[in-house]
Amino acid sequence: MMNTHLQNHTAAKTGHNNQLLQEAEAYLKQYGCELSIAESAIATRLSQIASEIEATGSYTHTPEELAYGAKLAWRNSNRCIGRLFWDSLIVQDARGARTAADVAKGVFNHMEYATNGGKILPSITIFAPTVNMDEPRIRLWNEQLVRYAGYEQEDGTVLGDPISLELTRVCEQLGWRGAGTAFDVLPLIVQMGQEPPEWFEIPVELILEVPLTHPDLTAFEELGLRWYGVPFVSNMRLEIGGLHYTAAPFNGWYMGTEIGARNLADPFRYNMLPKVGALMGLDTSRESTLWRDRALVELNVAVLHSYKEQGVTIVDHHTASKQFSLFAEKERQRGRIPTGQWSWLIPPLSPATTAVFHTRYEDIEQKPNYFYQKTPYSEQQ
Ligand code: ARG
Repeated sequence: MMNTHLQNHTAAKTGHNNQLLQEAEAYLKQYGCELSIAESAIATRLSQIASEIEATGSYTHTPEELAYGAKLAWRNSNRCIGRLFWDSLIVQDARGARTAADVAKGVFNHMEYATNGGKILPSITIFAPTVNMDEPRIRLWNEQLVRYAGYEQEDGTVLGDPISLELTRVCEQLGWRGAGTAFDVLPLIVQMGQEPPEWFEIPVELILEVPLTHPDLTAFEELGLRWYGVPFVSNMRLEIGGLHYTAAPFNGWYMGTEIGARNLADPFRYNMLPKVGALMGLDTSRESTLWRDRALVELNVAVLHSYKEQGVTIVDHHTASKQFSLFAEKERQRGRIPTGQWSWLIPPLSPATTAVFHTRYEDIEQKPNYFYQKTPYSEQQ
């Protein structure tokens, strides 16, 4: 006779396996349906998955299932305005990476491939998944593969990007030292399961950066501003058919306002509006001169101009909004409801000049999707 402990354990295992099988079924059915795969083929595949789950407690996506899941996760990302291109996502299967060094290598390959000399290719590299979220798993500690360090100075002000203050301290504790500029790229930090994290300096040739200039304001370049070319989001969990890919860095290209109206403009980031206003000779003594708004526009002009001039893919918010309307329309044509989160879709510059501002989308969460996960090095979520 089984003892109670063993019985409980077995019951928990069965519950877990059933739930996983249900998630797998839901995904495989959508996969089969959208790709017009014969129902019999999907049924066969599902019985194979059922045996694998029964035997091992998990299952393995085929490369095709993995790739389509990553695309669907993008299509379902309600906060993303760039989803017109969801079906062209390029998927690298790096599930074979076993060591932190293997993972770093996969990440560097991704950076080189996706940067593509400035003609950015929307891409994702997917490392081995975990089924059980309590199990050891692969994590990249960086929020994005390329981010600038932030250093708290004697007088309490921050040199660099204040968003990176905590991770910068963590990197320093691991033995990394930055050059001490406002634009030091942080190292890559990889953690395999419960092992201690390892850091890797990112080879400089993999980091495309754009020095910012303005088409008419010649003094603009004296601000010494720059930004990196590619936003590689590296801290999100990709969930497909009940499997959790906790390390799956992905990238699209920038919409100009992310840099010009947020990263460089927010008072709690690089806070550049006062400097841009001064350079433009604006009257900053009263809010009602709208010097902030005027500085904001020129900062955004500089971002778009510089990326374009350097041959680095970027999109302005007017074009992105039109592309999003087209995406929504295509979704409706295919019989699906386009979902979105309005507060994220509207651009932070002149929102009411774009169609997204005047349209409501349903904010329904669907899977596959990309989810936030707990920051591995901090008590913050
Ligand atoms: N907003 C983030 C940043 O400014 C990037 C998020 C992803 N953006 C994108 N265009 N794919 O760095």
